[in-house]
Amino acid sequence: MKKLFVEDLKVGDSVFGELFAVKAYKKTATRNNRPYIDITLSDKTGIIKGKIWSDDMKNCETVGEADIVSVSATIDEFNGPQIKVTNMSKVDKYDLADFQPTSGKDTEKMFSEIVEAAEKIKNPSLKKLLKEFLNDKDTVEEYKRGAAGYTVHHDYLGGLLEHTTEMLSYVPAVCKTHPKINKDMFVTGIIFHDIGKIYDYDVSTTITLTTKLKLLGHIFTGAEMVKKYGEKTGMDEELLDEVIHLILSHHGKMEYGSPVVPKTPEAIALNFVDELSSKLNNAFSALDATEENELFTGYNRIFGAELYRSPYSDELANEDIPF
Ligand SMILES: [Fe+2]
Ligand SMILES: [Fe+2]
Repeated sequence: MKKLFVEDLKVGDSVFGELFAVKAYKKTATRNNRPYIDITLSDKTGIIKGKIWSDDMKNCETVGEADIVSVSATIDEFNGPQIKVTNMSKVDKYDLADFQPTSGKDTEKMFSEIVEAAEKIKNPSLKKLLKEFLNDKDTVEEYKRGAAGYTVHHDYLGGLLEHTTEMLSYVPAVCKTHPKINKDMFVTGIIFHDIGKIYDYDVSTTITLTTKLKLLGHIFTGAEMVKKYGEKTGMDEELLDEVIHLILSHHGKMEYGSPVVPKTPEAIALNFVDELSSKLNNAFSALDATEENELFTGYNRIFGAELYRSPYSDELANEDIPF
């Protein structure tokens, strides 16, 4: 039974024989050629990065990603808490529920929101294209379980659904303000944009990166999936290319991994709602992971800043906002 979770670890703490999942494990060396191991440990409450220095390596079993390990360690300060592992061995007995991070939202409810959005589509070709995917049972099961990220945003089981439904919830506001947006195309793009992420991550005791992600990535695999679905339906090639353009361009810039930049209003809107959902998820996760008495988070790589927790945030959070 796990007693101590990642979210409880504070600088100065010592850990004795506590269980964690290995999210990343890499043997490497200092500039002076002293070997050490870069390790990331996780449980359902979060992740902690750390090191196994050469003196401690003899007390630490060599392990693989997704293994569950019993760890003795101290928590040091390096850009926030960092774990210095002094003793580590693999275990076989554990409760999976202690490790798998999951979306707090109901999977079936989120999935039915996606089905409903697809049913509202009027263009018969786009509707058929989405049906082709939604009837692909094995893929849909992966889509329901999938994470939308490794550490950056929606990095938990059901995260892909949560991210996609958040983006769908922005559609009415965007389309009301900009009625020239082709809503059918916009919704189709949102549902498909990260579909390739089902091949990016292995979701077991923790979320780890796959070889497919490293060699191909979700922009390519997603485009490939949608091309196959489209060809099956026999839809017009030009219309299919426009949908694929939404997938290819959704990261907005070539330096962010998109092979083309957004070239339609729907692709531009898709890029921004994707950013809105992912950045806010990252910001709130960072704030949630920070001690309540701290005004600032640790340095956040995504924002290039420490985020500020307003002391007024509870007062200002108003569930009865009239819009
Ligand atoms: Fe993406
Ligand atoms: Fe996304």
